[in-house]
Amino acid sequence: MTQVLILNGPNLNRLGSREPDVYGSQSYEELVAIAEAEASKLGLTVDVKQSNDEAELINWIHGAVDAKTHVIINPAAFTHYSYALRDACALVTTAGLKLIEVHISNPHARETFRHTSVISGVATGVIAGFGLDSYRLALVQLSH
Ligand code: DQA
Repeated sequence: MTQVLILNGPNLNRLGSREPDVYGSQSYEELVAIAEAEASKLGLTVDVKQSNDEAELINWIHGAVDAKTHVIINPAAFTHYSYALRDACALVTTAGLKLIEVHISNPHARETFRHTSVISGVATGVIAGFGLDSYRLALVQLSH
């Protein structure tokens, strides 16, 4: 069975109460349940994690490379400035694994500082703006 690691960056554990007009009213726990249900429908094995800590995310990415696991990542605000996270993501794609960057909102339709992603250049692809469906669409890609 194809293994997929879904990583979520800072503040995504506050989904539901965090800017619901932007991110919707569903909680982080609901995101996990949606991803697990979609993965099982598609015949994928998924592990969903969240951290507010850049180092922890990087260590989880290293683990995915070692285990030859594809990665779906919502880097949250790290998207816009974390070169360390970008370098870790590059390890995934240069190992021949897929890394899909996802966003709940469409950062390009928001503040200017969100228009830059330092992650996209090393990602296999980017899915943004479809709410929690962005994660489901990424899983569909990995099931091909
Ligand atoms: C986000 C967009 C980022 O700009 C923001 O910092 C987030 C969430 C999204 O999913 O829309 O935390 O990655």
